[in-house]
Amino acid sequence: MIALPKTGVLLGIESSCDETSAAVLRNGELASVVVSSQFFHERFGGVVPELASRAHVRAILPIVRAALNQAALSIDEMDSVDAIAVTHAPGLMGSLLAGLNFAKGLALGLGVPLIGVHHIEAHIFSVLLEEHHPDFPFIALIVSGGHTMLVLVNDIGHYELLGETLDDAAGEAFDKVGKLLGMGYPAGPEIDKLARTGDPHFIRFPRAMMEEGNSDFSFSGIKTSVSNWLKKHSEYSISDIAASFQRAVVDVLVTKTINVAESLEVRDIVSAGGVSANSELRERFQKECSRRTMRFFAPRPLFSTDNAAMIAMLGALKLTRGQASDLSLTAMPRKPLAERTIHPA
Ligand code: KG4
Ligand code: ZN
Repeated sequence: MIALPKTGVLLGIESSCDETSAAVLRNGELASVVVSSQFFHERFGGVVPELASRAHVRAILPIVRAALNQAALSIDEMDSVDAIAVTHAPGLMGSLLAGLNFAKGLALGLGVPLIGVHHIEAHIFSVLLEEHHPDFPFIALIVSGGHTMLVLVNDIGHYELLGETLDDAAGEAFDKVGKLLGMGYPAGPEIDKLARTGDPHFIRFPRAMMEEGNSDFSFSGIKTSVSNWLKKHSEYSISDIAASFQRAVVDVLVTKTINVAESLEVRDIVSAGGVSANSELRERFQKECSRRTMRFFAPRPLFSTDNAAMIAMLGALKLTRGQASDLSLTAMPRKPLAERTIHPA
């Protein structure tokens, strides 16, 4: 069981992509979280970076104010905030800067510590916002719109990259296939919903890179395969396509994660990031883990997608370990979480 940090009142801020979010953590307990999603990107079929950063600049103060209010603090009671955690990497440069500069200004004004947080690392520890926690070491599958990776988590700050996508992220595949099916952006939640009424065996879409010992992923082929199939057929039910596509992606994600956990004799598995909100993915993990006396952990959907509660949680863990940042902290669009390691099969 990972001990929850007791750090007074900590404000978390997230703005790395298209969600502006703020959260308050009070002695390790979540007091509030507010997430504002930029739905206007839908008409462009993806996030437009310049528009995203402008929207963050507009939203950040009202969102922070709302998170403070929800935690029964007003903006005039800001001096009861003891520390500020903010995402500084990776993400869209302009979006990161909007949150980071706001957080720096606040930290400077209040004279409290600033803690720079790695967005992917925060996804891994988002599970600490739930009642049940994994033990170290555990395997984390991070599946979002920008990332798909398998990480061996030995301790906080001690990670080994076991595998990653060589092309599209799993969430990107959901979004691109959704676009082919005429859905809005992001399409993951809608595919998830439609798939429940479809036949997952309607078409067998390819499962890439399934050879034993391979922990990397590739999702661009499945998108092409769905596109080719749709070009050749005119009569079908969208639910069947959604279910067949989702079944293929879930098969790959679950099989590879379980395989690497078994080969490393690791018992606990965590799935985090937007795609981990997927209902079939959770059910399959739960089923496969309980068959093997392994344990599966995932944050609730609100904490699976981008949110500041996870930023506050990791910020608090880092603060208790003396890992505050200074005001020279920079926004970094890219920042690898871990070195790649090859474990013998
Ligand atoms: O973690 P996240 O909010 O943002 C990134 O850091 O990328 O993940 C967003 C991604 C999108 O691609 C979205 O389609 C996907 O997560 N997603 C889902 C579901 N909910 C969100 N994919 C499949 N099933 C879902 N229920
Ligand atoms: Zn994310």
